[in-house]
Order: sequence, then C-alpha cells, then structure tokens
Amino acid sequence: MNKKAFIFDLDGVIVDTAKYHFLAWQKIASELGIEFTPEHNEDLKGVSRVRSLDIILDLGNIQASQDDKNKWLIQKNEDYLSYLVNMNFSEILPGVTPVLQYLKENNQGIALGSASKNARPILEKTGILSYFDVIVDGNDVTNAKPDPEVFLQAANGLKILNENSIVFEDSVAGIQAANIAGMTSIGIGEASILHEAQYIFKDFTFMDMSFIESLIKK
Ligand code: BG6
Ligand code: MG
Repeated sequence: MNKKAFIFDLDGVIVDTAKYHFLAWQKIASELGIEFTPEHNEDLKGVSRVRSLDIILDLGNIQASQDDKNKWLIQKNEDYLSYLVNMNFSEILPGVTPVLQYLKENNQGIALGSASKNARPILEKTGILSYFDVIVDGNDVTNAKPDPEVFLQAANGLKILNENSIVFEDSVAGIQAANIAGMTSIGIGEASILHEAQYIFKDFTFMDMSFIESLIKK
C-alpha cells in the first residue's frame, strides 16, 4: 500500500471557525470605522493574526502604534475564543470525519497544517486530536502562507516526499502554498475563488471515497 501525506488546514476545512474569525475581525473593523466585507475577508483566510490586522488597517488607511495593534490583537483573539467556549464535535464540517477515518484505516499519514495558534485546543474540544500524526500550527512557523513552510514541515514530520503530499485548503494563500511546495492542492469551497487548486470540492460531502483511494494509489 502506498503511503501518502494528507495535510489538512484547520479553519474552514475541518471546523467551521472561519465565520468566527470573520465576526471577530469585523467587530474590530467596525470600531475603527473600517468597512470590512466577506469579500475582503477572503484575503485574511489562511493569514496569520498579525498580518490580518495589518490588512484591515491598510483597508482603512490607518497608521497605528504597536501598543494599539497589540491591544486589538488581544481583543480579537479574546472575542474569537468566546465563540469557541462551548465548542464540540458538532462544529466539525460535514464529511470530514469519514475521510479522517478512511485515511486512518488505510494507514495514511495525517497532518494538520494551520496558521492558527489556537489549533490544538480546537482539535481537543472537537475530539479529533488523535487522528493527527503530526501537527504544525501558527506556533511552529515563521513564514505565513502562501509561503509553503507549514506544509513542508508537515510532510517532513510524516517523512513523506512533497510530491506524495496532498493538501486540503479553503484559502487562496493556502492553495498557493501547496502548489509552491509541489504538493497536490485540493480546494474546499468556491471554484470561483479557489481556481488555482488542482481539484475543488464545495465541501467534503462532495468527495467520494473512491477519489481519496485514487489519491492514495496515484
Ligand atoms: C487561519 C485562519 O487558519 O489562522 C485565519 O484562516 C487566522 O483567519 C489564522 O487569522 C490565525 O489564527 P489564530 O487562531 O492564531 O488567530
Ligand atoms: Mg482555512
């Protein structure tokens, strides 16, 4: 049996947390009088917390002191975490668990490749931590997506070549990172946004297990 590395982004791929990031940023933006729409939010997906704030401030042409930035970063994270207090398995996106289960049963490498510094508690709360052989998150990397560092570390941790690695991503930056790494890129979301991906599915329920099988055999 071939062994491949299946690398999952977290927010918007495994769990439905992208909406909470958006709401928390929107609150900060509105306090600063900046218009921040779902379209603007696409540029923040997969992007680190610090970089996300800079993008929002740029949108409003706002220059801020480091003290103010630190204050807003803390505020955003506290607000974001307030949405996660009662988080449980119900927040796992449809079709994800059967894929994780199938990969485990077929002895495939499973890794997380996320920009989030909140990744581990989310995997714990949703009860899926044990599926992951390797976790690379925002605490481990210095270069944010579209830099491929997070996925390179994940494949390396699984001891699998990049060309034998498959990345599931909902962000443009993440798809670009996977492509730069020479990995198979699978977009989860809208084809109009994720058109740089090699394959695109609206969500995991549209993905047949025979597709996963074909990736393993490839
Ligand atoms: C990414 C999200 O997964 O993690 C971004 O797509 C988020 O929206 C980034 O900003 C950092 O997350 P956190 O939890 O460390 O603020
Ligand atoms: Mg994501």
